[in-house]
Amino acid sequence: MGYAHLTFPKDALFLVTGGAGFIGSNLCEAILNMGCRVRCLDDLSTGKESNVKLYANNPNYTFIKGDIKDLDTCMEACEGVDFVLHQAAWGSVPRSIAMPLFYAQNNMIGTMNMLEAAREKGVKRFVYASSSSVYGDEPNLPKWEGREGNLLSPYAVTKHVNEECAKQYTRHYGLETIGLRYFNVFGRRQDPNGAYAAVIPKFIKQLLAGEVPTINGDGRQSRDFTYIENVIEANLKACLAPSEAAGQAYNIAYGGREYLLDIYYGLTEALGLSVEPNFGPDRAGDIKHSNADISKARRLLGYDPDWDFQRGIQAAIAWYKENL
Ligand SMILES: NC(=O)c1ccc[n+]([C@@H]2O[C@H](COP(=O)([O-])OP(=O)(O)OC[C@H]3O[C@@H](n4cnc5c(N)ncnc54)[C@H](O)[C@@H]3O)[C@@H](O)[C@H]2O)c1
Repeated sequence: MGYAHLTFPKDALFLVTGGAGFIGSNLCEAILNMGCRVRCLDDLSTGKESNVKLYANNPNYTFIKGDIKDLDTCMEACEGVDFVLHQAAWGSVPRSIAMPLFYAQNNMIGTMNMLEAAREKGVKRFVYASSSSVYGDEPNLPKWEGREGNLLSPYAVTKHVNEECAKQYTRHYGLETIGLRYFNVFGRRQDPNGAYAAVIPKFIKQLLAGEVPTINGDGRQSRDFTYIENVIEANLKACLAPSEAAGQAYNIAYGGREYLLDIYYGLTEALGLSVEPNFGPDRAGDIKHSNADISKARRLLGYDPDWDFQRGIQAAIAWYKENL
């Protein structure tokens, strides 16, 4: 059912941390399209200035270049804010294995600072990005909330700790927190560059450039790839959900299951190419299969995603063809 029908007061002020990144910049855009005000806080570490420039001329948009590791910056950013959509973090499982201390400082302490600032400034709702990585090595499919396994990476640890801290802020201080466990999000503006790029934009870019992509492992791993529009819907609905929904985390996915090899051949076909991939070793910390049960988010947030994988991938390919 999407989010077009949702209404917020026109003077509502949203704070999007990580708003210069992939998901955050899409959230900023959706909020501006609703006619509301949005403040973006980002240190531009993995985010892009070009994502800030997109909205720089909109009077409802303000940008603070700042770091969530700094509590004063978080306090300033939360002043007068109704809804926080906290996306700022470093992603990537392999990079977190390479630099665990930075991940703890950035993703864990940064989130603690944001929770503290939101509490101090009386924010109405604190919605934050968690991750399917919190399921760790739990083998059963689909993944459902309350059945998690052993964590497999420092990145997963940061997301798990974020959830536990957020729950404490709801329990002890009445800050209404809602965690969204995203499952492999993809879509416009996701960065295709660098060693830690996500697989879909990376493959599209390489194929368009005439390069041969490398699949980690045998390509028979599966993921619940989730189009960005569904993630926007989840964030906005989490802001409006009844208070009983707070203090918990929810799977945010489409509820499907795509195999990497199928995605690869789907992309080559859509791009009119016939290129066989290279195969590399499995990546440490990766899980083999992931598929979400989204019934909890449906029930308590009213989440009702209407972008399935095929619809999303067609939109993503069209966007990258125009914008790369
Ligand atoms: N993309 C996915 O598939 C996915 C899956 C699960 C969870 N998530 C989570 O969703 C959120 C957004 O991810 P994304 O894919 O848009 O990544 P992204 O790298 O595009 O965006 C993250 C943004 O946060 C900013 N940032 C990082 N550290 C910061 C700091 N200390 N202070 C201020 N800004 C900081 C970056 O500059 C960047 O703009 C992250 O929390 C990520 O862990 C993403």
